[in-house]
Amino acid sequence: MHTIAWKDGSLEVLDQRLLPFQTQYQTLSDWRSVVVAIKDMTVRGAPIIAVAAAYGAVLAANDPDFFSALDELEHARPTAVNVRQAFKRIRRAAELPGSEQLRYQMLLNAARAVEIDELHSCRRIGIYGKTLLETLWREKERTLNVMTHCNAGRLACVDYGTATAPIYLAPEIPVHVWVSETRPRNQGFSLTAFELAERGVAHTLIPDNAAGFLIRKGDVDLVIVGADRVTKNGDVVNKIGTYLKALAAYESGVPFYVALPSATFDPSLATGDQTPIETRSEEEVTHIWGYDDERNEVRRLRIVPQNAKAVNYGFDVTPAKFVTAYITDKGVFGADKLATLIKN
Ligand code: MRU
Repeated sequence: MHTIAWKDGSLEVLDQRLLPFQTQYQTLSDWRSVVVAIKDMTVRGAPIIAVAAAYGAVLAANDPDFFSALDELEHARPTAVNVRQAFKRIRRAAELPGSEQLRYQMLLNAARAVEIDELHSCRRIGIYGKTLLETLWREKERTLNVMTHCNAGRLACVDYGTATAPIYLAPEIPVHVWVSETRPRNQGFSLTAFELAERGVAHTLIPDNAAGFLIRKGDVDLVIVGADRVTKNGDVVNKIGTYLKALAAYESGVPFYVALPSATFDPSLATGDQTPIETRSEEEVTHIWGYDDERNEVRRLRIVPQNAKAVNYGFDVTPAKFVTAYITDKGVFGADKLATLIKN
């Protein structure tokens, strides 16, 4: 099952909002529907947002408002930074002289290059991360317990995922994954659990607030999370709740790894606190989607008192000091070597 594909001049995307209950694709034929799909999280996860937006630029190629379309696509979600890198390439392609037809073709080539780059980066993250797992496995001589957060898996990417890539590329290493819920939208339960089951990786679901207990109890050998942005000093901006896992891991001496492709590194910001943090609708907190086994249907329910107020920050900042190392497409290293990821 693919996550994204350019087909006959349109963009086909897997509707992540419907997982794990339904596997359905949306065909996006104009750039405005790509913006909507990114905003409403039909497509979500930093790498695939970049790929979708890049193909959105192709769909906008002949629009009289082409450059405002690019701005809307690039800023549909403010926190994930991969799309900024992708749009440097897209804008370069757009500025080349030539006919409208040529511009379309150049944009399509650029979008394909963004897609291939994201795919290759994830694979390389997997290859480097696998060596970490091998070392730990030799030391422990038993199944490794990995904890992750949100979905930094293949559904968030073209394939492999970032946090999951080392696991998928090392099927010979026995691994068990603790999958945390990831309220309010439950990407852990609905997406990570779905794709781990699909790949036959052993896993157990936990509510978000159980993570600290398990880490302290010694049931977690390492934590691997993805990132929406890593700033110059190594601070990690990722799905809300990442920080609490990092704190618990640090306190218990459990290694905490961040998996990221080069495109997630943002040297233009000195620290994570300068990152724009997306605030989403209160309704994502006050209501929940689930499958009603009796009625055989997917339903949305309110889980709080009527008119209760809520706040819904999408991301938090984990200071670099809590990160053991960064698993990247250029190797595994500490914050001092992140500059290796800078692309021209
Ligand atoms: O709000 P989301 O679901 O787009 O948030 C996604 C995450 O936080 C992921 O961990 C991050 O984008 C890395 S995905 C490889």
